[in-house]
Amino acid sequence: MTPDITTSTATATLKNDRFIRALLREPVDCTPIWIMRQAGRYLPEYKATRAKAGSFMDLCRSAELACEVTLQPLERFDLDAAILFSDILTIPDAMGLGLTFSAGEGPVFANPLRDRRSIEQLPLPDPEGELRYVMDAVSTIRGALNGRVPLIGFSGSPWTLATYMVEGGSTKEFAHIKGLMYSDPASAHLLLDKLSTAVTDYLNAQVRRGAQALMIFDTWGGVLSPDKYREFSLAYMNKIVSGLIREHEGQRIPVILFTKGGGAWAPEIAASGADGVGLDWTVDIGAVRQQVGGKVALQGNLDPSVLYAPEAVIEQEVARVLSSYGQGSGHVFNLGHGIHQHVNPDNVKVLVDAVHRLSRPYHQS
Ligand code: CP3
Repeated sequence: MTPDITTSTATATLKNDRFIRALLREPVDCTPIWIMRQAGRYLPEYKATRAKAGSFMDLCRSAELACEVTLQPLERFDLDAAILFSDILTIPDAMGLGLTFSAGEGPVFANPLRDRRSIEQLPLPDPEGELRYVMDAVSTIRGALNGRVPLIGFSGSPWTLATYMVEGGSTKEFAHIKGLMYSDPASAHLLLDKLSTAVTDYLNAQVRRGAQALMIFDTWGGVLSPDKYREFSLAYMNKIVSGLIREHEGQRIPVILFTKGGGAWAPEIAASGADGVGLDWTVDIGAVRQQVGGKVALQGNLDPSVLYAPEAVIEQEVARVLSSYGQGSGHVFNLGHGIHQHVNPDNVKVLVDAVHRLSRPYHQS
């Protein structure tokens, strides 16, 4: 699977360690790829398992079914990593906000946070208590993978979780959370601080149960001005990164930070101590590499809508991203955001195979 170039101390037990090696900027035979939301509604087999489970949260709460859907995309495509099947909203749910997913509306919280008192009273969830179902899914998936590819654990960033918790669901305006941030910054900081502790404990528990890399999804950091991004999002991700287990059972556990819309801040994100920075498609990955390539690996950044195009266009766009990144390791190929639910799975196969085939020349020494 991987070339016999150097022996990585990071990955002794993996049959395919390209993803970990690329994050550590060690030599690889070709560029690794995985896809955000790779287990999801674009796959008919996902929809079948989801129907069997009942609700989306029922699917997350069953370790066996969560494992089944995690492995589905790996059966179809030559992907270089698996990602825990769960959701970023498990933490707010475990804090008592009452999460449901309604068709067409997305996530809804029965008890959104609207005042200081409810923030003060917010309990810290126990990863092996209220969130034990997530940890059981991690152990089950890690066992079933049997070293085939690494397992990525994840969480939402404090800022992104706070947007859902204060708004009570998805939003376009961010009126309540931004209102809180500007009018009562101390309460916003109290909430973000609690969430940082919860996220750190949650991610470390995932590592103890077998996650081999970690990713923090800051889906909504990009809606902030640069100074507010630093103060209300990045500062808390920095704090989390410095509290994470970075080595477990002799293996390095790489961490990726992804702020959607945060490309302009890549140098600051790269200074967090993370191993990798995720990029959406609005930046040129080669230009960002010029700024930070000596410090971190980069993950991304194909526009997810390219997957609606014919095969030749997909290959051409893959070639463009690979050429923009250029020669050598330190690139994990991905979409710039989650895969859309109406994509044809055959096009995903074209994408994955094109990344492996077309990247080989960039890894010959
Ligand atoms: O990447 C993977 O395959 C792992 C699973 C995963 C899911 N959600 C499964 C999911 C991951 C990593 C997430 C993260 C997540 N969840 C984020 C951050 C990443 C991003 O997309 O920016 C966010 C913002 C959420 C919150 C969330 N969960 C929303 C807004 C929705 C509704 C989306 C919709 O289109 O209805 C979800 C539900 C969700 N999470 C689904 C999946 C596969 C679809 C639910 C279903 O089967 O009906």
